[in-house]
Amino acid sequence: MNKNINLAILASGSGSNAENIAKYFETHPHIQVKEILSNKANAFVHERAKQLDIPSFTFSKNEFQDTSFIKRLEDIDYIILAGFLWLIPKYLVKAFPNRIINIHPALLPNFGGKGMYGENVHKAVIESGIKESGITIHLVNEEYDKGEVLHQAKCEIIGDDTAESLVKKIHVLEFEHFPRVIEEYIQSRN
Ligand code: GRF
Repeated sequence: MNKNINLAILASGSGSNAENIAKYFETHPHIQVKEILSNKANAFVHERAKQLDIPSFTFSKNEFQDTSFIKRLEDIDYIILAGFLWLIPKYLVKAFPNRIINIHPALLPNFGGKGMYGENVHKAVIESGIKESGITIHLVNEEYDKGEVLHQAKCEIIGDDTAESLVKKIHVLEFEHFPRVIEEYIQSRN
């Protein structure tokens, strides 16, 4: 791989995955996190970006829906969605074909789709009584949680697990797998 690859991370919340990804690529010879973008001005991910010395920006719904948003991504090769809650507009999916990667905190195709984000996912999983959950890292197309799956990893759900304890188990899996899967996917295409 001889070209430098720039990543933009989109995150709506705390940004622990964004931070983990940024740290993973800090010393990478070819791949780096160029910017972190959020739809929320007060998201903690901006604090993390500051600590990491990575520029971060906030955008509104209108800005995101407008094709001129692409100008902010001029130097970007791949978009990483790390806890980003909005549907990606069609123009952006077309501009980044197979170059947008999302992480979903459950084993798709179950517990995915509109409304299935954050706590909602873990509550639904616990209420269903199933004995395992996990993460799905997948490409993004025009429908929520429907793009090609790149990787899944599982964890066990035991009797006294709650949505809160499941969040912790899921984060462990996300930290372990997400950066590596991003790296392997990009390297396989470049
Ligand atoms: C993660 O569990 C991610 O899979 C989900 O939202 C959570 C974001 O956590 N979509 P964080 O902001 O990275 O801490």
